[in-house]
Amino acid sequence: MSESISEQTFDSSEFRRALGAFVTGVTVVTAVQPDGSPRGFTANSFTSVSLDPPLILVCIAKTASSHGVFAATDYFAVSVLAEDQKPVSGVFASRSPDKFAQVAWRARTTGAPVIDGASAGFDCSTYQVVDAGDHIILIGRVVDFFHSNASPLGYCRGAYVNFSLSQEALAATGARTQVGAILEHRDGLLLLETKDGLQLPSGIKLEPETDAGSLRGVLRKLGLSAHLDFIFAVFESGSGPSASVHVYYRGRVGSSAAAMMDRTIRIVPLPQIPWDELCDDAVRAMLQRYVRERSEDAFGIYVGDSEAGTVQTLAQSR
Ligand SMILES: Cc1cc2nc3c(=O)[nH]c(=O)nc-3n(C[C@H](O)[C@H](O)[C@H](O)COP(=O)(O)O)c2cc1C
Repeated sequence: MSESISEQTFDSSEFRRALGAFVTGVTVVTAVQPDGSPRGFTANSFTSVSLDPPLILVCIAKTASSHGVFAATDYFAVSVLAEDQKPVSGVFASRSPDKFAQVAWRARTTGAPVIDGASAGFDCSTYQVVDAGDHIILIGRVVDFFHSNASPLGYCRGAYVNFSLSQEALAATGARTQVGAILEHRDGLLLLETKDGLQLPSGIKLEPETDAGSLRGVLRKLGLSAHLDFIFAVFESGSGPSASVHVYYRGRVGSSAAAMMDRTIRIVPLPQIPWDELCDDAVRAMLQRYVRERSEDAFGIYVGDSEAGTVQTLAQSR
């Protein structure tokens, strides 16, 4: 590298702003101090590193008061926060002396605290500590992990991001809503037989499960346990008083034997969806995009109306 390139300086707040365009999750990194008390801080620098051996990393500022503890620890844990855990992120981003008194947590394999309700958790032994400018890179070898159905909390440009749709925001549109799900079971798509043709499972709102009119209620009645991962499409149909907003999640479904006996349920391999049996044109177009993107493994969020819209790519799964 030439000297003029390597010695270039730039505005550090602009540099931070540019880095903030990278969307991350939010984690709490924890360890047990030599006196036996727990220590932890909020970090979005968490990254997966290697599958074999299983390695992750997190970067810790040398200005963090817990920096010395993490530089010397033999074990630590990383809890990936769920979207209802913004207050937990706030507690661990503070210098509060009693962070662990303010949240529910438990020790798992290594003894390092893992936050209750997290989307995922990784118990690690310290693999390597790398000095890197004003941070250290703490690389951990994962010795135990878990993950749950809880939707993860996102972080971008200095603000928290929710990946699931706020039900309050939906209610505020005033339009009738239909909340449905594109659910895969092994290699097939779940469709329901109705007198009008094939449909995706849907309800007038997402929750609660006890409401037979909600999507969760419909799935429960069918004996299906669904993991709704992300919103796949949002579109409007109709206008004036008949306007409605359609929200479709994508996810996976486990099932009981009873559910698979239900004659209204059809599991259809993606390349063999009987398109002309689908009763809704907008749903057919959405599913055609789903099948296309599923084969490319690049999902986007669709925002628009039932005729026109834009696709914003959300993620490339690894
Ligand atoms: C969303 C978010 C992400 C953060 N990520 C990091 C990080 O990756 N590394 C870091 O050292 N500090 C990070 N911080 C700041 C620390 O959480 C903060 O400095 C905290 O006070 C450190 O705790 P301590 O002083 O008890 O060590 C982050 C804060 C927030 C709100």
